[in-house]
Amino acid sequence: MSRRAAVLGTGSWGTAFGLVLADAGADVVLWGRRAQVCADVAAGRGNPAYLPGAPLPASMTATTDAAVALAGADLVVLALPSQVLRPVLEGVADRLPPGVPLVSLAKGLESGTRLRMSQVVAEAAAVPAERVAVLSGPNLAREVAERQPTAAVVAASDVAVADLVATACATSAFRPYTHHDVLGVELGGVVKNVVGLAVGMAEGLGYGDNAKASIITRGLAQTSRLAVALGAEAATLAGLAGMGDLVATCASPLSRNHQTGVQLGRGLDVAAAAAVVRQTAEGVRSAPSVLALAREVGVEMPIVEQVVDVVEGRTPVREAARLLLARTLKHEGA
Ligand SMILES: NC(=O)c1ccc[n+]([C@@H]2O[C@H](COP(=O)([O-])OP(=O)(O)OC[C@H]3O[C@@H](n4cnc5c(N)ncnc54)[C@H](O)[C@@H]3O)[C@@H](O)[C@H]2O)c1
Repeated sequence: MSRRAAVLGTGSWGTAFGLVLADAGADVVLWGRRAQVCADVAAGRGNPAYLPGAPLPASMTATTDAAVALAGADLVVLALPSQVLRPVLEGVADRLPPGVPLVSLAKGLESGTRLRMSQVVAEAAAVPAERVAVLSGPNLAREVAERQPTAAVVAASDVAVADLVATACATSAFRPYTHHDVLGVELGGVVKNVVGLAVGMAEGLGYGDNAKASIITRGLAQTSRLAVALGAEAATLAGLAGMGDLVATCASPLSRNHQTGVQLGRGLDVAAAAAVVRQTAEGVRSAPSVLALAREVGVEMPIVEQVVDVVEGRTPVREAARLLLARTLKHEGA
């Protein structure tokens, strides 16, 4: 159990996961840049900007001062979008309590470097990789905040760190499993956002459940292929951070990647889709990095390829669907 946890990020997942930590017995301090959001949380009004209608316990507070949030924390959670994790963490690195585990909740690759978030965290905070854990799984923030039951995976190269983090977030509604395959757990979370966009596109085009199930299944096969080529274990992708998260994203109207895909499927461009969804989906930023990574290791990822072409405005969405179906016939296991 954690006695005092700092959560960097007052968005929907940072707030919902903070609630889990509080339910598990910790005093939780959220840090965010938006003064009104922090004032709302600190005054007991919850977080109406990011998680409306979810009451927060008195053991949760928030501040815009990172030094205050981090002072005395025995667990630090990073709940920020992938592209801002590095600059934010670099800015507060000298305030991190020595030796505490750092837990990444972010699901993306850093544009440019194509690094996974655990790698970015270790670099930006200048800590050994063993101190970094990642948490992933089918964890839609809204459902978690409502204490609907779910499971998750906490992966770390040091089993003691994974155990510690899992113990800190275990509640009667949130069941964490530990894992050692950090790479596989992270890649599952990254690529499912891209596959979620593709499934949303199919829905926006008016296709039914057969099409969506086909994309989910082939998307997972292509994700596993990439993950294994990069050194992950295939079984990880059949677990909560692979199949579990993918199914939740692709089935749920709560997922912003799914919602963004639906808008793209209806013919909107990325900017117009983001305006409708009112948030940027991680998959949009990660898709080109995933494709570049796949090409680097010689793995074919046709679904990701078509998503990138649609997102970058090169291929109309209906044409992308046609191209996927027109590919050369092959063995399902190939
Ligand atoms: N929402 C979910 O259900 C969910 C579930 C699992 C994982 N995730 C992942 O967790 C991460 C965070 O997601 P979220 O849903 O909480 O996002 P969000 O958009 O709800 O919140 C993002 C937070 O980051 C802050 N932020 C953005 N830019 C910033 C900057 N430059 N400096 C400081 N703070 C900044 C925002 O103010 C906000 O507090 C993402 O990688 C996402 O993929 C989300």
